[in-house]
Formats: sequence, structure tokens, C-alpha cells
Amino acid sequence: MRSAIRPSARSGDAVPDPILEVRDIRVEYPTPDGPARAVDRVSFALSPGEFLGIVGESGCGKSTLLFAITRLLAPPARQTAGSIVFKGKNLVQLTERALREVRWRDYSVVMQSAMNALNPVKTIAAQYADAMRAHGQTERGAIRRRSREVLSLVGIDPVHLDSFPHQLSGGMRQRVMIAMALLLSPELIVMDEPTSALDVVAQRSLMAEIKTLQKSLGFAVIFVTHDMSLVGHFSDRLAVMYAGVIVEIGPTRRIFEAPGHPYTQGLLDSFPSVYGPKIPLTGIPGAPPNMLMLPSGCRFHPRCPKVMERCATEAPALYAAGESEIRCLLFDSARA
Ligand SMILES: Nc1ncnc2c1ncn2[C@@H]1O[C@H](COP(=O)(O)OP(=O)(O)O)[C@@H](O)[C@H]1O
Ligand code: SF4
Ligand SMILES: [Mg+2]
Repeated sequence: MRSAIRPSARSGDAVPDPILEVRDIRVEYPTPDGPARAVDRVSFALSPGEFLGIVGESGCGKSTLLFAITRLLAPPARQTAGSIVFKGKNLVQLTERALREVRWRDYSVVMQSAMNALNPVKTIAAQYADAMRAHGQTERGAIRRRSREVLSLVGIDPVHLDSFPHQLSGGMRQRVMIAMALLLSPELIVMDEPTSALDVVAQRSLMAEIKTLQKSLGFAVIFVTHDMSLVGHFSDRLAVMYAGVIVEIGPTRRIFEAPGHPYTQGLLDSFPSVYGPKIPLTGIPGAPPNMLMLPSGCRFHPRCPKVMERCATEAPALYAAGESEIRCLLFDSARA
């Protein structure tokens, strides 16, 4: 890894500088009833080569957060606060042109629908060549070689370079997108539910392949999914989002073994346990709030099985709890 090493304040062990530091990001969608704040002061750091899973129910702001981090937010969405420091540069201050240099070469993005991301009238080879030429690689032989190489990495026969997207199955198109994200050997790949269009078995096997690639090539991953059980085996850390905020962040193993936030506990109860025996699916009653009418105090309080009187009036901060941070008043040690 190319990053600098600095001593850890807590343990004294050497820990690498983060490759990405997201600080206090806020994103709003204007609506006739006022701004909907889909992401509200989200912060986290990612180490080189680390695999971070971001989980939460549909509508909690995961995609909006990823679009902000990758600087791909499209109007009417607006980032109103926060910085995104990637390899020492604040992406918020870069021009569109400077961003185009960094995107794809230093970080790449795999979005939810490969069908929308791929150009239907160009072969895979032509699309890969466009991406490489945009970053200065113009030699035909080298482009062809690298294109074959990345397709092989994701388990697709390079003969498919001459196929058009519609000639491939859904699973193959997702793999073609992942291979495209690998073309320029980026240090970070951001993925938004890249397997969600596939059946469960195909999802699991693609996930395992992504993990193998990540380990052998050493890139960092941010992987968004609404399915907590999908990332359980693969991520180093997990961030759980609810109504635009992170409610729990910590090592994946720790969160699966001892989830702290009542929402995380509910999410885990919604899926068969990955580590332990199968349990009945109970889920979380109710639905996430409308971002225009957020509950007072703790945003989760109308659905929380552990709700206390103060939860309706006091907004919890992210409190340190062992290796995790948890946004729940039960972890407010100052008041416990
Ligand atoms: N185009 C839009 N206009 C207005 N509000 C939007 C728009 N897209 C998303 N939102 C709001 O942002 C919230 C988060 O959406 P999104 O980031 O897509 O969540 P997720 O990816 O977790 O499902 C939604 O609940 C909705 O309130
Ligand atoms: S702060 Fe209160 S309502 Fe919110 S998660 Fe904790 S116990 Fe539940
Ligand atoms: Mg989404």
C-alpha cells in the first residue's frame, strides 16, 4: 500500500492513514414542502484495503450518500455541507475536469443497475477502450490486453469483449461492470447494491468473488446493501444507516455478535443469522419516517422496542461503545 503510516492514538500500533475521510456530509433534495435532508452529517474514515459495508432499509439515504462521496450527485440533489478527503484531496473542491481524472483511475463506481450504466449500442470492448483512452492509454494492443485480463478476473470468457450488453445475462452484465471498475487498478471501488438484481445463489457467489479480488488486488471497498446477511461474511466494518444518519458503526464481527443499537438488533432479527443457528424472522414493525417529517429526539423512537421517555425529546449523539460507536441514549455513559 502506498499510504503513510502513523501511530494510532489509542493503541500505539502503527495504523495506515485513511484513504478516504468523509466528514459531516449533508445532502438535501428540494421538495414543494421544503428540503428533504436525505443524508444528515455523516462521517467515517476508510483505511487502504478496507471493506466497509453500509446497510439500512430502503430509503434511508445509502445511495444518496454514495453519490455524494463519488461526486456524482445530480440536481435537484444538493450537498449542503461536509468534506470528502480522498488520498489527501478534498473532492468537494475539485473541478469537474479534475474529478474526471481521479474517478475511474483512483476510485471507481459500480451502481445498482448495470443495464443503465452500460451503453446499449457499444460493445464491451468499445466501452472499456473509451474508459482507458479517457485516462491516457491509447495503445490498442495494451487496451485489448487489459480488457481481456479484467474480464478473466471476474470469470467471463474474453470472447465476450465483442458482445453488446443485451447479449449477456444480468449476472454477466454485473460482472462486466465490476471488471470495468478494475480496468485502471483503482485503490477504492464504491458499489451500490451491485448484486441486487441477481438471485440469492448468484448474489452470494458474486459477493465471494468480489472479496477474493479485493484481497488479492488490495483495493478498498464501500459496499451498500439493504441485506445485512449479504455483507456479514465479507466486510471488515459495518455502518448502519437509519433516516439519513449513521446509527451504529464498528467491526462487522462485533456488530453481528453483539449489536448495540435497537435498530441494528431489529435488522439482524429480520434475516436468518449468518453465524448462529437459524432464528424466526421477526423484523422491525412500522416503516422508516418521511424525511420531511422526522420524529423529534431519536429518529427511531416511534419504532423502538426499548424507547424511554427522554428518547422523544433528546437527539442521541454517536457514543463510543467498545470498538463501535452507537447513536442511542442507552449508550450515553454521561447520563447512565
Ligand atoms: N429525487 C428525489 N427527490 C426527492 N427526494 C428524494 C429523491 N431521491 C431520494 N430522495 C429522498 O432521499 C431518501 C434517501 O433515498 P436513497 O438515497 O435512494 O435511499 P436508499 O439508497 O437507502 O434506498 C428517500 O427516502 C427520499 O426521501
Ligand atoms: S435513543 Fe431511545 S428510541 Fe432511540 S434507539 Fe435508543 S432507546 Fe431506542
Ligand atoms: Mg439505494
